Amino acid sequence: MSQRSYYSRCTGMYPALPQIQNASLGPLPDTTQTHLLERLHFPPIVVQPDSAFPLESLQMNAQLSRFHSWSLFSLLSLLVLVMTALILALNPDLVEATRSAIRATARTSFALFLAAFTASAFAVLVPSSFSKTLVRERRFIGLAFAFSHLVHALLIYTYGQLNPEFWPGRSTVGNIPGSVGYLFIVLMTLTSFKATTRLIGRRAWRTIHVSGIWVLAAVFTYSNFKRIPLSAWYVVPFGIMCAAIAIRVIGKVAQTQKRSHPRTYA
Ligand code: HEM
Repeated sequence: MSQRSYYSRCTGMYPALPQIQNASLGPLPDTTQTHLLERLHFPPIVVQPDSAFPLESLQMNAQLSRFHSWSLFSLLSLLVLVMTALILALNPDLVEATRSAIRATARTSFALFLAAFTASAFAVLVPSSFSKTLVRERRFIGLAFAFSHLVHALLIYTYGQLNPEFWPGRSTVGNIPGSVGYLFIVLMTLTSFKATTRLIGRRAWRTIHVSGIWVLAAVFTYSNFKRIPLSAWYVVPFGIMCAAIAIRVIGKVAQTQKRSHPRTYA
């Protein structure tokens, strides 16, 4: 087996590792090397021919790989915190600032959710080193989504304290979609670690995560749809969510076909 295909089979993500090291970015940082070694234990991922990985794509991937697993989670969480702090600091009216921060964290959660929700579909439909990185980092993107929504919840609580009319102005039925959404966020977060996954077993894990991701997709679809009468701009996130659902479904169909006719796609 050539050196290039050896790297491909072992890492799945770095079909031309020596090339990355020779590129203008210089040698990969130690953390990345360690991460690559850790990945030697994972089953090999089938990679595309080298022509599918132009140098720019490899450089982008090398840049991205500086932040992976917990460092990626920390970076994304820090960005959410900095954004929230800036909104609260720059708006002179604290009540309005809190409401703006609630909306902003809903949007960061939405972006992170979309990345995790469509990652595997993009990896099947438009395979690239970037889409494969997204698949590999999906767990940490999902955890960053949960963190962003934790901040959303803390801001909602703060807003309720600052504006005593907030909770009485909401109906119990109106709180159901959001509450069910939070229930699944908690369940999915708690079962995103090796120990808890082992504890509940693969079947229960799949049930929680597959149903959870669709419940959250439904909550985002509904949350944006119900705001369209308030502003026509909500058609944009509503449309993006519908497109993401279509991409995920098409990706699943393509994946199933790929598995049943592997030669056609080789
Ligand atoms: C009981 C739980 C929840 C409550 C009380 C709540 C409350 C709020 C409030 C007060 C806003 C700002 C509304 C405005 O100023 O227009 C908001 C925005 C939003 N929330 Fe939540 N939320 C909850 C859970 C969730 C969940 C679980 C999701 C998604 C999974 C979600 C997604 C959104 C979205 C998409 C927006 C609109 C952001 C925008 O304006 O672009 N919320 N929520």
